[in-house]
Formats: sequence, C-alpha cells, structure tokens
Amino acid sequence: MSIDKKFLNLFIKVTEKAAIGASKFIGKKDKIAADKGAVDPMRRELNKINMEGTVVIGEGEMDEAPMLYIGEKLGTLNGPKFDIAVDPLEGTKFTANGEPNAFSVLAISERGGLLSAPDTYMEKIVIGSNLPKNLMDLDHGVEKNIKLLAEAKKIQISDLKACVLKRPRHDHIIKELSRLNVTINFITDGDIAGALSVIGEKPKNDIYYSTGGAPEGVVVAAALSCYGGQIQGRLVLDDEEKIRAKKLGITDFKKKYNIDDMIKGDVIFCATGVTSGDLANGVKDLGNEYEVNTFALHKSQKLIKKFTNIYNK
Ligand code: FBP
Repeated sequence: MSIDKKFLNLFIKVTEKAAIGASKFIGKKDKIAADKGAVDPMRRELNKINMEGTVVIGEGEMDEAPMLYIGEKLGTLNGPKFDIAVDPLEGTKFTANGEPNAFSVLAISERGGLLSAPDTYMEKIVIGSNLPKNLMDLDHGVEKNIKLLAEAKKIQISDLKACVLKRPRHDHIIKELSRLNVTINFITDGDIAGALSVIGEKPKNDIYYSTGGAPEGVVVAAALSCYGGQIQGRLVLDDEEKIRAKKLGITDFKKKYNIDDMIKGDVIFCATGVTSGDLANGVKDLGNEYEVNTFALHKSQKLIKKFTNIYNK
C-alpha cells in the first residue's frame, strides 16, 4: 500500500501556510508567538484534508493540551488513515532572531508507520546514503564510529566533517572529535537541518552526532527513509519521562532505534522555509503575495523535489 500522490500537494500547502504564518514574526523576538503563528494555520489546513489523521509526533503530549498534541485527530475523518508528525516551526529561536534555517515541517505515513515518541531528548547519530547498513552504533563511542565511517567512506579521519549541536552536554563528543582531528561544524539550534546536512548531492557533513529532540529524530528518520541515509537514536528519559513514554507504548527505554524501527511503509515529507536555509529558501513578501519554497519527498513515487509557490495575501 502507498499514499496516493494526490495528497502531496495538499500536505505541501499545509507547511506553506504554516511557514507564511510564522514568517510574520521573523525578527520579532517572540518565540511563542512565532510558534503559534505556524501552529494555527497548520492545524486549519490539516483539518481540510479528506483523511483520518492522528498526530503521533506533535507540539506536546495530550495532558499538556496544546495545539497539535500527540493523539489529536485531524482531517475531515473521511478518507485514509494517516499518522502525522508535525514540527510547525523548527527553529523558533531562529525565527524570533531573524536567523537562517527556520522552517515548517511535517511527515505523513499510513497508520502505524511512524514511531510515536514523547517530547524528550534523543541521542542521535546520522550518516548519509550508500554506506553499510547499521554501520553506526551509539554504544561504540565516538572513536570507533568515526573509524568505521572513515573506513567505509575510504577517506582519512581528518577529512571527515561532523555536525554537532553546540551544547555543554556534547563536550565529550566535541573533545573526542577534536582529538581525532575531525572537522566540526557547529549548529546553535535546529537539529533537523543539522541531521539532514549529511544527505544531498554535496553533503556539508559526513555525520551528525548529538542529542536533540526525539520528535525531531523521528522527522529526520522519515526524510531519510525517502532519501537514503541512516539514523540511530535512543531516547533519553528521566523517571517522569519514562511514565510518559510508557503511555505511548514504549517499554524498552534503552532501545536503539534504527530507521526501520521508527518508520514503516510509504512516507511524504514536506519542509517549507520560514527563513532561508539549507533545505529551502524562506518566505518572500512580494507585496500583495507571498512566495514560498518547499523541499518535498514522497517515498513510493521516488520524488525528491523543490517547489516554489505563490499565495495571495
Ligand atoms: P524549537 O524550534 O522547537 O525551539 O527546537 C529547536 C531545537 O534546536 C531542535 O532542533 C533540537 O532538537 C532542540 O531544539 C534541542 O533542544 P535544546 O535547545 O534543549 O538543546
């Protein structure tokens, strides 16, 4: 079974409307308003689609009752059953500060195709395509993983480039990478773009090695399942988070999730730029219209394409 291709344009419209909503808050120093600017139109557009959608990756969990919470039903409820992963505004800080790499993103699968992960942290290693399956392992440690990667890519360790989210919790990773003489490209936020910097025709990085949001991890896995590339992730859970994870059906708290554990079957992925970045250009205000740019993937259609669309104000 696969997702009918007629849905692609409908989901593109969802992230495009969300990006336009968020773009009104670029540089306004208000992360919460920017997020809401994306959430409201995203929800509105999703509710117009003839589908029975369930949010499995969302803005929060049910008892927090925000918009687009995990478990929320979306669509007209008259159509195919889909799992939906949303990140209405990835890069709330980037938007608030008018910095690059903010975008609206979603991933869709058929029911049961996406891991439902709590809004906690996830350790992640991400590498590009055409490498041996399950090459990386979080338990190997940095040195072994880096050696394996250099070997598989047939290049010197000192020619490898790693993307790391700049946080004190990554000091040990940074120390190891520096000792091995790997080039480190830091990001200050936005680990979906960081993780996806290992794919594409001329990837900026060979590996993404950091702990970021678990929802972002599943969204990255969805994109990689269409594009090629690998991720291994493991949830980071304190006692309270273990209770929340259990409610979502997770019982093995130490499980290392490879792509096939997070994503099953067909996937549509859409990311629309809010501010310009590696995945797509940002929203352009043309006066009476907005120009928007979306990077879209549809696994069963083997579609990898950038779209530019215009909306009247
Ligand atoms: P938001 O845009 O939702 O604020 O998330 C940005 C982000 O950088 C994610 O990409 C990343 O997974 C997470 O925050 C990292 O969390 P923290 O800032 O707590 O280290």
